[in-house]
Amino acid sequence: MQSFRLLKQFNDPANSWVVDRRKRLMPRDARAFPGDGPVDRFARALCEHQATCFRELAEAFEFFALVRKHVRAKVVADLCGGHGLVAVLFVMFERCVERALVLDRTRQGNFDRILKAAEQAAPWTSGRIDYLETKLHTASERVPKDAGLVAVHACGARTDRVLELAVANRTPVAVMPCCHPVATSKAPPALKKALAHLAVDVDRTYQLEAAGFHVRWSQVSERITRMNRVILARPRAQTHSVVTARSDSA
Ligand SMILES: C[S@@+](CC[C@H](N)C(=O)[O-])C[C@H]1O[C@@H](n2cnc3c(N)ncnc32)[C@H](O)[C@@H]1O
Repeated sequence: MQSFRLLKQFNDPANSWVVDRRKRLMPRDARAFPGDGPVDRFARALCEHQATCFRELAEAFEFFALVRKHVRAKVVADLCGGHGLVAVLFVMFERCVERALVLDRTRQGNFDRILKAAEQAAPWTSGRIDYLETKLHTASERVPKDAGLVAVHACGARTDRVLELAVANRTPVAVMPCCHPVATSKAPPALKKALAHLAVDVDRTYQLEAAGFHVRWSQVSERITRMNRVILARPRAQTHSVVTARSDSA
């Protein structure tokens, strides 16, 4: 079973009492995060501000731990970002990330609580995260072309729209898909019948590779979510410009 990368205390089964809880975290839950480091400090602030539930916290922290080096860029955009916790983590912990954007059709109430907790635990995050309350189809105009892209549980075909944007911008992307659109996927019917939602991610992987991306699969702990597959893709180096440079210098 995949272990926790950032919230390592939950690799100890004795701490499993708190995992899978969908209840809003309360100040008393801070005892689950006793460490001196910045991760536990932020988690305690999230409890203090009753900003989210354990499942969302763990999902965002562990997704971030998995993709941070892959996606980091001056700007990172969290698409269909909901509570925006992944965007906040990038600004908090990745030095090269200057700004983060959360794009969602509805600005969620707990985003403001998460921001308050972030500013308490890490004052340098203040003013560096913008919430774009808009639909995903506007992302091509609203998100800078060189932004790294992430999407956690951008339901169904919205994950495909995020991957298409990454291909159009030739920028790194990491998605954790959910609600796989099996019926409308262009995966071969035999694969859809045999593999169901797995066929959708296989087809996405072929499409990304065909578009010149290098693709990896990974996962967060299935103790957090059963929809835990993470697809990481980045554009391959452009061989065309290398060939041109070589012939120019010949
Ligand atoms: C399952 S939630 C995931 C939220 C967040 N990424 C998370 O991990 O908790 C899906 C999100 O997509 C947003 N959403 C749905 N349709 C959208 C659209 N067309 N454009 C932008 N956001 C959309 C919803 O408002 C919701 O916040």
